[in-house]
Amino acid sequence: MKTINIKASSGAYNVYIGVDYKSIVDTIKKSGKRGKAFVVSDTTVFPLYGGGIVGALVDGGFDTASYTISAGEEHKRLSTIESLYEAFHQHGMTRTDVIIALGGGVVGDMTGFAAGTYLRGVSYIQIPTTLLAQIDSSVGGKTGVDTAYGKNLVGLFNQPAAVFIDPTVLKTLSPQIFADGMAEAIKYGLIKDAKLYNRILYGEFSEDVTELIDTCVSIKNAVVSADERDRGERMLLNFGHTLGHAIEKCGNFKKYTHGQAVAIGMVYAASIGENLGVTAPGTTDDIIQILKKYALPIRSDESKEQIYSALLSDKKKSGDTINFVLLKSIGDAMIYPIDVLELKKLL
Ligand SMILES: NC(=O)c1ccc[n+]([C@@H]2O[C@H](COP(=O)([O-])OP(=O)(O)OC[C@H]3O[C@@H](n4cnc5c(N)ncnc54)[C@H](O)[C@@H]3O)[C@@H](O)[C@H]2O)c1
Repeated sequence: MKTINIKASSGAYNVYIGVDYKSIVDTIKKSGKRGKAFVVSDTTVFPLYGGGIVGALVDGGFDTASYTISAGEEHKRLSTIESLYEAFHQHGMTRTDVIIALGGGVVGDMTGFAAGTYLRGVSYIQIPTTLLAQIDSSVGGKTGVDTAYGKNLVGLFNQPAAVFIDPTVLKTLSPQIFADGMAEAIKYGLIKDAKLYNRILYGEFSEDVTELIDTCVSIKNAVVSADERDRGERMLLNFGHTLGHAIEKCGNFKKYTHGQAVAIGMVYAASIGENLGVTAPGTTDDIIQILKKYALPIRSDESKEQIYSALLSDKKKSGDTINFVLLKSIGDAMIYPIDVLELKKLL
């Protein structure tokens, strides 16, 4: 088992890579937790892995209950959070108990938000089960829900008490959901690590993704440690996300997965960068090449007008500018404020 200590300014915690259910429960108990546990999962993940974790918690002496959310981004809404509060109440959860997110990024983001707001804060742990969640969303404490007017617009920074990663659960992912995680892995390479980008390009992680998870979590740790609240360095992780979120919204959070939308968003962002003379010529073609290799989409059907209109509700908009992340070259990114009217012409 590998341990990475995440040094968030609001408190450090460990990410354990390569764990089984029993060792998860042992670690929770060693942290002093006793009493009640509550597992939040979704309708796909719970039948696969819920029994194992619930059984281990019960064996470990926890009074355990669970709640299963309908799988899918379209359920990442405040109405689901209300159902979670109700379920926490029914189980008599108190501030000293523990909530466990077992699932992909949707379950993780919502559980972190519900845990952070129920009783003004109950501690929670993440057991991510998609590649995307294992390399990205379970670490760093961004939690929240989508609204009708935009992606992740309601939420809070709420770091988990620990993250437990078991790469073997990825074997049940569909190739498409696995590829969503590769989109975020490619993003890490593009913004911070040209060597990682090349290793992904040459398929070095196709047999075993444990090292990929380790590398990506380590990059995220460095970024989150420097800027937990997304005021500078952490914004770099949003490469491809500003346009990606707009594309997700255009598709009513159903047409494209998050990873697909980010893939398209990265192509757009590279092309905007090249048009502005900020990004090295040819970078867009390189990104298209690597995305195609992982069967990720490179363009969307939405018109420029639709995307522009969805962009206007982005969180990274301040006043009349949007803090865009652009590449200088592969492995080197920068924050580049763009006026919203200028952006309309650049799309
Ligand atoms: N908090 C952050 O920092 C952060 C970062 C990146 C993305 N996100 C969020 O993460 C979400 C996307 O996460 P995701 O891609 O994991 O999507 P997801 O949670 O919707 O999972 C995708 C699908 O895979 C299924 N699934 C999960 N684990 C499985 C397994 N082991 N075997 C079989 N099926 C499994 C799920 O039931 C779901 O149907 C988005 O809402 C995005 O905004 C958050």
